[in-house]
Amino acid sequence: MIHLATPFEWKGLTLRNRVVMPPMCQLSAMGRDGKPNDWHFVHYVSRAIGGTGLIIIEMTDIEPDGRITDLDLGIWSDEHIPAFRRIVTEVKKHGAAVGIQIGHAGRKAEHVETPVSSSAIPFGPGFPPPRALSTSEVKDMVLKFREAARRAVEAGVDTIELHGAHGYLIHQFHSPLINRRDDEYGRDLARFGVEVIQSVKSVMPDDMPLLFRISAVEYADGGYDLDHAIELCRRYREAGVDMFHISSGGEAPLGRRRPGSHAGYQLPMARAVKQALDVPVIAVGNLDDPEVAESAVANGDADLVSVGRGMLRDPYWTLHALQALGAETRAPEPYKVAFRRVRSAMS
Ligand code: FNR
Repeated sequence: MIHLATPFEWKGLTLRNRVVMPPMCQLSAMGRDGKPNDWHFVHYVSRAIGGTGLIIIEMTDIEPDGRITDLDLGIWSDEHIPAFRRIVTEVKKHGAAVGIQIGHAGRKAEHVETPVSSSAIPFGPGFPPPRALSTSEVKDMVLKFREAARRAVEAGVDTIELHGAHGYLIHQFHSPLINRRDDEYGRDLARFGVEVIQSVKSVMPDDMPLLFRISAVEYADGGYDLDHAIELCRRYREAGVDMFHISSGGEAPLGRRRPGSHAGYQLPMARAVKQALDVPVIAVGNLDDPEVAESAVANGDADLVSVGRGMLRDPYWTLHALQALGAETRAPEPYKVAFRRVRSAMS
């Protein structure tokens, strides 16, 4: 039995296998209007043809100033819906499920004169200081997340992922290093994330799972550790998250602690969250060796495995990995001849 090849079901989400394409910004919205174009269409559809189980569209922002750069995707108006629907519809035709990562860059917005954050603390020395959102602006931001999710649902996605990792806005609220507010959003570091989750859930179909990407540890000196992340996940789970996508860092320049560069360096974090909360998790980070990906699922470290850079190198990563592991590969009909284990293309 090849674990990576087994289908997965969670609420209304059905995947043909355990392989996920994680969100990866393409910096290719050339109209600077946040709308996906032919680049994005080919990029995502080719990974669906390549056998991927779940494709998560890159970080897509809830307002123009929430973009990391002007070349990022956004979903801040109903006019954005058709361009996303075109991609979603075609990806599904090729058997993949499709999600979208919704987020806000906060103080990591690079093309904004004065970015916003939980507190007026810059990302690091030499970075522009952000402005702290007022309490009523925080409440407005929650509604913007809800509207973005509503549009994503209208575009036909199978799931939504909230970007609560890598030092972006939700992370800027739940990090004790970054959030120094004295209102209700500072006294309870999880409150912003909880309200975003609840309001996003209110516009999602009941059986559509909500994913949440979280940095399980911070690498800045004095940053939070796994225990804090698990407590956050507990609160977020109670608020409605159905599955966590476990990454790390991104909140500030690196301190003494460094992320690993070895295979599966974030797997122990994924396993810890899964075990503590008995919740499905997606693991990510240097998992593009098929044997490593297979063992992550087989050993119970994670339910699903994300392969990022591996899929940038090879849109057919999933077909190749399943073939290498000895599983039956379901290549698209016109490509089947190339995936047969025979030498002659004429046979
Ligand atoms: C990323 N990553 C990322 N993460 C995220 O949550 N939202 C995003 O939009 C992006 N954008 C992005 C762009 C590019 C070009 C890369 C390479 C990465 C991080 C990504 O999802 C993943 O976590 C890492 O790449 C680690 O996985 P791999 O590449 O080791 O499989």
